[in-house]
Amino acid sequence: MSDKRLLVALDVDSGARALELVSTVKGIAGGFKIGTRLFTLEGPSLVRELVSRGERVFLDLKFHDIPNTVAQAVESAVHTGAWMINVHASGGIPMMEGAVKAGRSTAQRLGQAPPLLIAVTVLTSMNDEVLRDIGVQRPMLDQVVALARMTQDAGMDGVVASPQETAAIRHACGGSFLIVTPGIRGASAQAKADDQTRTTGPAEAIRAGASYIVVGRPIIAAADPRGAAAAIAEELARAS
Ligand code: C5P
Repeated sequence: MSDKRLLVALDVDSGARALELVSTVKGIAGGFKIGTRLFTLEGPSLVRELVSRGERVFLDLKFHDIPNTVAQAVESAVHTGAWMINVHASGGIPMMEGAVKAGRSTAQRLGQAPPLLIAVTVLTSMNDEVLRDIGVQRPMLDQVVALARMTQDAGMDGVVASPQETAAIRHACGGSFLIVTPGIRGASAQAKADDQTRTTGPAEAIRAGASYIVVGRPIIAAADPRGAAAAIAEELARAS
């Protein structure tokens, strides 16, 4: 059983371990997320290696800089063959528009499919108090939905969102906007909550409107990672 909506977070400490995990769950997951830790260790060659194995890579580097720099970073990311790339929505509409333009034109030049470009709205580690500290007065959910709308207006494909925010974003941004949801626990994704404070099960996330779920520790830390991934994929298939 496989499900394209399951993205496995390669939250491991070396390229060798990452490749081992990719082989272990091969054919089950719809893609793999490479974050700043692994990318800083192993660089673009690991992305290229996964792409050459036919895997879809979500490059989770959360670009946030002046529009020209982000556009150039997106151009570089497209050269690695990444399937999905993200930025911070709080970088603003010109930054996101620059990212979209760079993504499309670079992909066209290279004869590739354009990458999916998504944005982080508000980091899930933040709360209303931290938002106020940085000058944001509106409540968390309002801020998340406002940034999701901005992301859509900039021509981006979707957002990363916590399970608690998914339904409101789906309602505000419509059916074809992508929502990528981490923080998956419970049901077939058995693991302790770790540092995730707001969690949801795989099927529940899909029913709330998620397009993709990102799962790390419930697979990586399982006694049988392939079995754990297969159980989550089965649960997703039943949810649709
Ligand atoms: O191990 P776990 O399933 O909690 O991993 C979730 C992954 O999603 C991690 O790579 C984490 O950094 C990432 N993530 C998250 N919450 C966000 C954005 C990304 O947990 N809001």
